[in-house]
Amino acid sequence: MAARGGRGVRIAALLAAVLLAGCSAYGDGMGDILRGQGIAAREPNYDVPYVPTPEPVVDAMLDMAQVGPADTVIDLGSGDGRITIAAARKGAAASGVEIDATLVDRARRNAALYALQDRAHFSNANLFDVPLRQASVVTMYLLPRINMALRPRLLTELKPGTRIVTHAFDLGDWRADGERLVGDRRVYLWIVPAVAGGSWHATLPDGREVALTFDQRFQDVTGMLGTVPLTGSLRGVALRFTAGGREYRGTVGEAAIVGEGWRAVRVE
Ligand SMILES: C[S@@+](CC[C@H](N)C(=O)[O-])C[C@H]1O[C@@H](n2cnc3c(N)ncnc32)[C@H](O)[C@@H]1O
Repeated sequence: MAARGGRGVRIAALLAAVLLAGCSAYGDGMGDILRGQGIAAREPNYDVPYVPTPEPVVDAMLDMAQVGPADTVIDLGSGDGRITIAAARKGAAASGVEIDATLVDRARRNAALYALQDRAHFSNANLFDVPLRQASVVTMYLLPRINMALRPRLLTELKPGTRIVTHAFDLGDWRADGERLVGDRRVYLWIVPAVAGGSWHATLPDGREVALTFDQRFQDVTGMLGTVPLTGSLRGVALRFTAGGREYRGTVGEAAIVGEGWRAVRVE
């Protein structure tokens, strides 16, 4: 009896090792997360395995993005729908995009439990195929290489000021605007910056007219105000920079910057 028990334990251990070895197919640290949770990857042909975000982390993600009734939230890779449903419970119009039809069904049933079918929608689709432009908040618990593949679209398709929150993985050298640790889980926030890079013609508070140029890298700007170097940053459309020991603030539009006491128009 003891011998059979020992063999059973050895077989179970072998099976667990084989299943967990499958996690390495995902690389990028998701395997470690799966292993830490004792979860084996089931769908190595998907871009990211299904691993649910713990509820306190969901709360932190929505809190960091300050999700409310005015928001349109999209969770990319929505799993059982928990982030989408939590956003809908805060009054947002929320949707989830999920490649696994079984999980989409589960998410729809979960939304029905909260009578939130009107505000929490789920589509069975590939996250790379869905339009993002209407979102005011994008949430993601994906892998680093998927985050990076999405990054150009996040920067160009999303409106300035859109909040992006991720669980666990960042967006490479696009520095996060906020970061929070929930237990051992990390949550990151980015605010999509307006496009300030390029040449502008500025009218300063003292009436002087000078050339204004910005080199923009994500939310950071350097450049010249007339002959004076400047350095600053963007938070959505809100621009702050210092030049010659003076701080300038303004709101960046496509063709003009409306500053506090100054203004600029884009030079073609
Ligand atoms: C780590 S889970 C996160 C689930 C949920 N967002 C959460 O945080 O609880 C990633 C999800 O993305 C889904 N997924 C993977 N590749 C996808 C793709 N190309 N398009 C849509 N969903 C995908 C998986 O099926 C899985 O449910």
